[in-house]
Amino acid sequence: MESSRSLVLLSLLPSLLLVAIATEPSAGGELLSTFIVHVQPQENHEFGTADDRTAWYQSFLPDNGRLLHAYHHVVTGFAARLTRQELAAISAMPGFLSAVPDSTYTVQTTHSPEFLGLNVEAQQNQPGLGAGVIVGVIDTGIFPDHPSFSDHGMPPPPAKWKGRCDFNGTTCNNKLIGARNFVAALNNGTSGVPVPPVDLVGHGTHTSSTAAGAVVPGANVLGQAMGSASGMATRAHLAMYKVCYTNRCSDSDMLAGVDTAVADGCDVISISLAGPALPFHQDPVLVATFGAVEKGVFVSMAAGNSGPVESSLLNEAPWILTVAASTVDRSIRSTVQLGNGVSFHGESLYQPHDSPALFSPLVHAAASGKPLAEFCGNGTLDGFDVKGKMVLCESGGNISATLKGRVVQSAGGAGMILKNQFLQGYSTFADAHVLPASHVGYTASTAIESYINSTANPVARISFPGTILGTSPAPSIVFFSSRGPSRQHTGILKPDIAGPGVNVLAAWPFQVGPPSTPVLPGPTFNIISGTSMSTPHLSGIAAVIKSKHSDWSPAAIKSAIMTTAEITDRSGNPILNEQRAPANLFATGAGHVNPTKAVDPGLVYDITPADYISHLCGMYKSQEVSVIARKPVNCSAIVAIDGNHLNYPSIAVAFPPSSRNSSGAEVVVKRKVRNVGEVPSVYYSAVDMPDNAVSIDVFPCKLTFTKPNQEIDFEVVVWPGQSGSKVVQGALRWVSEMHTVRSPISVTFA
Ligand SMILES: *[C@@H]1O[C@H](CO)[C@@H](O)[C@H](O)[C@H]1NC(C)=O
Ligand SMILES: *[C@@H]1O[C@H](CO)[C@@H](O)[C@H](O)[C@H]1NC(C)=O
Ligand SMILES: *[C@@H]1O[C@H](CO)[C@@H](O)[C@H](O)[C@H]1NC(C)=O
Ligand SMILES: *[C@@H]1O[C@H](CO)[C@@H](O)[C@H](O)[C@H]1NC(C)=O
Ligand SMILES: *[C@@H]1O[C@H](CO)[C@@H](O)[C@H](O)[C@H]1NC(C)=O
Ligand SMILES: *[C@@H]1O[C@H](CO)[C@@H](O)[C@H](O)[C@H]1NC(C)=O
Ligand SMILES: *[C@@H]1O[C@H](CO)[C@@H](O)[C@H](O)[C@H]1NC(C)=O
Repeated sequence: MESSRSLVLLSLLPSLLLVAIATEPSAGGELLSTFIVHVQPQENHEFGTADDRTAWYQSFLPDNGRLLHAYHHVVTGFAARLTRQELAAISAMPGFLSAVPDSTYTVQTTHSPEFLGLNVEAQQNQPGLGAGVIVGVIDTGIFPDHPSFSDHGMPPPPAKWKGRCDFNGTTCNNKLIGARNFVAALNNGTSGVPVPPVDLVGHGTHTSSTAAGAVVPGANVLGQAMGSASGMATRAHLAMYKVCYTNRCSDSDMLAGVDTAVADGCDVISISLAGPALPFHQDPVLVATFGAVEKGVFVSMAAGNSGPVESSLLNEAPWILTVAASTVDRSIRSTVQLGNGVSFHGESLYQPHDSPALFSPLVHAAASGKPLAEFCGNGTLDGFDVKGKMVLCESGGNISATLKGRVVQSAGGAGMILKNQFLQGYSTFADAHVLPASHVGYTASTAIESYINSTANPVARISFPGTILGTSPAPSIVFFSSRGPSRQHTGILKPDIAGPGVNVLAAWPFQVGPPSTPVLPGPTFNIISGTSMSTPHLSGIAAVIKSKHSDWSPAAIKSAIMTTAEITDRSGNPILNEQRAPANLFATGAGHVNPTKAVDPGLVYDITPADYISHLCGMYKSQEVSVIARKPVNCSAIVAIDGNHLNYPSIAVAFPPSSRNSSGAEVVVKRKVRNVGEVPSVYYSAVDMPDNAVSIDVFPCKLTFTKPNQEIDFEVVVWPGQSGSKVVQGALRWVSEMHTVRSPISVTFA
């Protein structure tokens, strides 16, 4: 593992731009690098003004030019450019807590609201859907002129809004109320003149419009997926905090974005980015999100695009909502027909209607013989005759699907069939290719490959049936969605929730598809995939809940989202994964979000900031917890809350191997629910676990609420039982006449 951290945009972007970190020599010839330094005032001193605090931060530094960002709200500390020796000197100074290197470079909707049961057009002129709520998006910037950010019918921002807009005065409005750039490298040298947070890659425009974009009728991409585009919280306000230079985003800039979003008055923060999983106190962004949550701001973050392997999760802290990605019931179909008459449905966003319906010779790119040619990387088809042929390319190899298409096209190929690896299963993407193409699942891929092997003159053609709605299975978990169990934290089940993250249509700054595509009038959209795309869906849904329940804590909103989630797909079957096998809780979390139910959950599991700190004391040393808490914490003087007992809306229990079949090995899990529904109401417990695998008792098994906001404690006793399985998963349900409050339970035997 490298010790430095790089943040990655969690979308499968059509092209990847790389910007290496520049480490510059200082005047003395020694290397300067950026560090995030956490400090703690003596005697818990309170600073009168931000300038006083900044002056104190400066006192750690050799000269004034070194400070990149001073943090005031969610982190006590700063980012600065320092040599290793200077850092060593700072670490010996009173008030120093810790420092982490800020190393960064990246490697890497028309339909989803309806699919989630939100009728946005009918509700558009009613309050709700996020009215009065501000969603801050930490991302690559925004294209403000897009109609998704039109403020038609939007009231002015709430009085608490303190932010600003660094586009020229005419560009922000009552929808896009704020926009700032925090990329230190872009602000440098502009002598204080704000740099507009322009989106050069499209990612931030897409995520912002998914969270809280206005309704835009007639949206489509290359004629496909026609419909009204809209965000989840159509009435919420948006603020963009640009923290990425093209698609390179650094921790230190992100912290500045989160710090300002909290100070500005954002209610929800959406972060579709992730770095490698680290202990929470070493992850500056997770430290900052704790400060945000402590101040009542809801934070959703992407689970990561590293699935389907086990424990590939990122952004695992218990105070944030960790979002997995699922499919919707829409396919942008392109069908491969082989010379033997067999055909397979795949996907492509680019659907040329003038493409010849004739069969072309079919070749496997691997036959080129060049190393890694199977992935159709640039240069690998040189000297290989693919003129007028259909080329079979493998997915992956760290090369984007659209780049493979460009490589095939520039070599003279007539079309591309993009084939899946085994692990990618049935997951396919409708990308904006530049030539006739079809992305097919693994089963189809092997059949096509066998066909090529079986005949001397294989041929194929691609036809374009277009946008198909009502496809199944949907929702299903996509291969790239990162999986649990959490490595940082075995006592908490992660991810928390799944939402639409495959082939999501949303606003885009530029036209996509082949360069030859005629430029059409009207707004541009794009369809892309990633946990980057599922995260803003959940941010928008959190805004809708916050708008209806302004007094709910971030933990209560999260509980509402999780305990009302769906565990079956639209056909009523268990939600499947990319292999079309039932997806486990490490893929789905609590299930697939149901926004309509989430505004009225009946009961909530709440957690206070002090509970998180007690809980962190069960994981880390006092000084490490102090970094996250931004105040001195003495864990010896606190009763730690271990993993099982944090009042989380899901339950994870790990048994040591010796506990199987032994009596007295049971684990008692404590929880407390608050009634936010009808009064009086009576809830009965129900436990869904595979037969005999483990046995679970709930005490008491009936909860009677006679007052609003009444809280009742209960205990869940988990007996190891006689299971031979390593993991046993099920759920606890509290059921009343009006509500089902469901908590997933995962039991692991080490
Ligand atoms: C302000 O920005 C808008 C949209 O980007 C642009 O059309 C307009 O010319 C700009 N006005 C000024 C004064 O720069
Ligand atoms: C800012 O610009 C100055 C002068 O060009 C340069 O010396 C310094 O290293 C730059 N700092 C950053 C963070 O890019
Ligand atoms: C992916 O490719 C880029 C260059 O295009 C490289 O920097 C990066 O390390 C590669 N990632 C992996 C996992 O191979
Ligand atoms: C392939 O690489 C060549 C040379 O590096 C470059 O000029 C060309 O633009 C690349 N092609 C694609 C499709 O990226
Ligand atoms: C097709 O032939 C290639 C080369 O002989 C082989 O590696 C591959 O496994 C075969 N594929 C199938 C599906 O039979
Ligand atoms: C932390 O609390 C323990 C128990 O109350 C006490 O003995 C210890 O002195 C405290 N440590 C600090 C550094 O205050
Ligand atoms: C537990 O009991 C079952 C059935 O009696 C047996 O198959 C299993 O091997 C036992 N497991 C352990 C760890 O003793």
